[in-house]
Amino acid sequence: MAEFIHEPVLLEEAVEWLNCRNGLLYIDGTLGGGGHSKEIAKRIYPDGRLISFDVDPDAIVAAEKNLAQWKDTVTILRSSYVNIPEILKSLNIKKITGGILLDLGASYYQLTTGERGFSFSKEAPLDMRFNPDNPVSAYDIVNSFSEQELVRIFSNYGEERFSKRIARKIVEKRHKQPIKTTVELANLIKSAVPVSSYKIHPATRVFQALRIAVNNELDNIEKSLKEVIPLLEKNARIVVISFHSLEDRLVKNLFKYYSSNCVCLPEQLICTCEPKKLKILTKKPITASQEEIKRNPPSRSAKMRVAERV
Ligand SMILES: C[S@@+](CC[C@H](N)C(=O)[O-])C[C@H]1O[C@@H](n2cnc3c(N)ncnc32)[C@H](O)[C@@H]1O
Repeated sequence: MAEFIHEPVLLEEAVEWLNCRNGLLYIDGTLGGGGHSKEIAKRIYPDGRLISFDVDPDAIVAAEKNLAQWKDTVTILRSSYVNIPEILKSLNIKKITGGILLDLGASYYQLTTGERGFSFSKEAPLDMRFNPDNPVSAYDIVNSFSEQELVRIFSNYGEERFSKRIARKIVEKRHKQPIKTTVELANLIKSAVPVSSYKIHPATRVFQALRIAVNNELDNIEKSLKEVIPLLEKNARIVVISFHSLEDRLVKNLFKYYSSNCVCLPEQLICTCEPKKLKILTKKPITASQEEIKRNPPSRSAKMRVAERV
């Protein structure tokens, strides 16, 4: 395994907003190398408890090393954050008393380790799975999903305006032989679109879309937030850091939904809404400072939203 490098984004801000306090239970749904988990552990020691999840075995190895000193405070689990409710139930935990952090997306290690296949500039097999046990990789999607399905993925998850042209080109190419590598796909995309119309590399949006589809990212976020919010104890917090507009919009809308008094249609005479569950603490998302962006450029697209259980 290559050296695990990932600089946690909005580190101070995230742990401050999580309101870490000794004696309470916290969840880190996206452990990565354990940067955020370590800061949470320091603040909730000695009587607090942190349970941290990741699906990537490389992240688990790196975090176990990074958090060795905090092993009495942090429990590391190789599992999806989607399984949080089920796992808490199995541990006989009824409420998340402190809060939960989700630092979404991929780690710098995943994005830059060639063989994981996330980057269009590094020759590698088309993979993009956070969890290597996931049965579907980017290769499967590119080589076996229908043209229509590809258009849907590129449009919905990449907001790619040349989705149809790109999907057509992929289908033509794979008819002759499978598309096996990242660079092969990136070159194919480049040849399918008018390059002059792009400010960024023309493969950027399709690669983002494939990553979201391979890892079921948006569905996972939605399912998880809907199930975890009711598990928060009164005053416990939820902190979500996202890295692209689709994720951020989803988080913003779910926070809005759970913090509204009534979401019934105007024609409905009797309100059937449940009592509101959240209070939004960040009207506008928190972003990285100029100093952090300079030190750690991937932080420039981070948006952090925080809410508190009422
Ligand atoms: C941005 S990194 C987190 C970095 C971490 N906060 C740190 O300080 O090192 C996101 C992590 O979420 C993990 N991940 C993605 N989807 C997941 C899921 N459904 N369940 C658990 N972890 C997931 C990825 O494998 C990756 O390690």
